[in-house]
Amino acid sequence: MLVAASLLIGALIGCETAPHSNSGATLKAAYKGRFYVGVAINRTIAMGAAVRADNVNRNTEQIIKDTAVVTAQYNQISPENDLKWQMIHPSEGASGYVFGPADAYVDFGESNHMYLVGHTLVWHGQTPNWVFRGTNMPPGETNASIAAAPVGTNAPGTRGYGRGFGFSGPRASREELLERMRDHIHTVVGRYKGKIKVWDVVNEALADGGTNLLRNSPWLQIIGPDYIAKAFEYAHEADPDAILRYNDYSLENAAKRQKLITLIKSLQAQHVPVMAIGSQTHVSVSSPSFEQEDAVLTDLETLGLPIHITELDVNGAQGGQSNTSGDVASNAATTQGGLVTDADRKLADAYAGLFRAFIKHDHYVKVVTLWGVNDGVSWRRRGHPLLFDAADNPKPAFDAVIRAATKQEAKSR
Ligand code: XIL
Repeated sequence: MLVAASLLIGALIGCETAPHSNSGATLKAAYKGRFYVGVAINRTIAMGAAVRADNVNRNTEQIIKDTAVVTAQYNQISPENDLKWQMIHPSEGASGYVFGPADAYVDFGESNHMYLVGHTLVWHGQTPNWVFRGTNMPPGETNASIAAAPVGTNAPGTRGYGRGFGFSGPRASREELLERMRDHIHTVVGRYKGKIKVWDVVNEALADGGTNLLRNSPWLQIIGPDYIAKAFEYAHEADPDAILRYNDYSLENAAKRQKLITLIKSLQAQHVPVMAIGSQTHVSVSSPSFEQEDAVLTDLETLGLPIHITELDVNGAQGGQSNTSGDVASNAATTQGGLVTDADRKLADAYAGLFRAFIKHDHYVKVVTLWGVNDGVSWRRRGHPLLFDAADNPKPAFDAVIRAATKQEAKSR
């Protein structure tokens, strides 16, 4: 009880009462001067309330411990869900915004002196269907297909989620959708102007596989390929000082990475204000190795933009070893089959290799964000992909990440 109380006080005043390795080393101190080390948080932590997405229930004692890990270890945060369109703008119109959890996220970060990221403005996932609805009959639709159109949102567990095809039926015109996008971006970015320093403006616009450059999302179908440029222009208008990021997954895959390079070069040629590359880095214990990640970063650097590792986790489940997709839709498959043998050691080796690569490229890598506080709350929790276990104990992977920084320092002395 006393321990819980002192942790609570520590969490409330944001001091580092809970060192999480034997030596008391922390991630933010180990990487100071190189890059921010951050973590995605949910409203459990921002609001101290036992509610969040994905049926993850943390009790008060767990939330207090989770919060102590966040404030002790990290100097940057990202909102795992609460700034997504579905959460912050669930219904149409000026009264359709819900700011409570997002405001709490920003307050939490500011009171703990953390670098704040906003995630995400324009995405095919977790976007309510009202955004795309209108009066224009899409080509090829029939009354029957419209009657069968899903209602509600493309939230997890409902049809179409994660693929961007959850929407059908009469749709908005290009002008209507651009206006909704502009209103959303101006309202959300404007509200946190000067506080949220980095925005994921467009998320996951690239097509997986095939030869199409862009994912066939409702954004692309209704507006056309320039929806990406427009989103960046609106965000830049709303906060000219914010760092505007393009964020995507599976950039470890050479073909997808080449698509990213093509997209960003074309945006740069049009003087679109894209200012950083977000590489989600949802990877697995089998790849990428140090050498592979080194090559990924070398390629990305040809764009001349800062690189942010935005959603790092390393899947230790057997199902995640051959499938390298970071797509939300493939999440269930990639976390099946139980853990690989010797999972803790393999995880530590994988994290060590990745952080060695980030260190080698620290003239470009400016932010490294872990996608979740611990294995108990991770979206891939069956794959035990993070640095802390479900009880907030540091794992061997945590020590490996700390050691990677220390070894490097010893070398450069
Ligand atoms: C995930 C969250 O972690 C889950 O809680 C939620 O149910 C689905 O979305 N790419 C992204 C993130 O950009 O927003 C996704 O986050 C993971 C993949």
